[in-house]
Amino acid sequence: FQEEGYLVIPNFFENYQELLKRSKELLENFDIQTHPKTKFTCKDDNHVGDDYFLNSGDKIRFFFEEDAFDEEGKLKKPKEKSINKIGHGLHYHDKVFKDFTTQEKLKNLAKDIGFKDCRVLQSMVICKQPEIGGEVSPHIDSTFLYTNPPSAIGFWFALEDCTTKNGCMLFAPGTHKRHKVSKRFVRNKESTGTTFLRSTNEDEKKWFGGEFTQIGDEKPEPAEDDYVVAETKAGSLVLIHGEVWHKSTHNFSDKSRFIYTFHMIEGNNEYDEKNWLQPTAEHPFMKLYDQ
Ligand code: FE2
Repeated sequence: FQEEGYLVIPNFFENYQELLKRSKELLENFDIQTHPKTKFTCKDDNHVGDDYFLNSGDKIRFFFEEDAFDEEGKLKKPKEKSINKIGHGLHYHDKVFKDFTTQEKLKNLAKDIGFKDCRVLQSMVICKQPEIGGEVSPHIDSTFLYTNPPSAIGFWFALEDCTTKNGCMLFAPGTHKRHKVSKRFVRNKESTGTTFLRSTNEDEKKWFGGEFTQIGDEKPEPAEDDYVVAETKAGSLVLIHGEVWHKSTHNFSDKSRFIYTFHMIEGNNEYDEKNWLQPTAEHPFMKLYDQ
């Protein structure tokens, strides 16, 4: 993990069928009539930054695949086959995911990694639906969940087999040592939406009052050749360093690719107030254990 910036741990958990079943129940049960039809995409400057997304940190909300709708704005498939992800507060509200997230094995792992005041945030089920499951463009997670110094680590659990056919992960090993945070996904000044903020863009820095903590030099993004495929069996855990570059491809196959994921951050590090995800009075970031 320290060398490569990610680690696949096969057979980490056995109850993936239970988590998969619960994910599918959530998809069956949500009310599409009252849904604002928010799409989720990781492409630059194309985030749908409305209230439904911005205030989802402590709720269970549903985000559509980008290709879920036809030209007339109608769903091409049933709603349960149209959702890209469920997020971002499953660990607060859903018993199955809360119990899973707070299990002893994960607490011990967090301590082994070196977390002192470990906080869990941004839990989500990513469905990557058959045929329309969207790609995730290359990124590092600290762009989205910035602490000073950076501390985010992704915990990524395969609920189904993830292969090159249904859009498994690809990592650029070792990039966490060379590439530092040079782009941030932040709330805009009015907190009405989101934007990317680049450390190299003087206008963007000025617009945000010149505040941008960058550690190390800007490096170009990794090349295509730098990435290695990480196929994972259901039951695998993948640990993802906050500064390692990764991505995943579109799912054109007839098999879904359900995964559950959340992040841990160090509660003793300053959590940046510009980050898209903010704690609320009702739901501060969940403490995984007492220090
Ligand atoms: Fe990521």
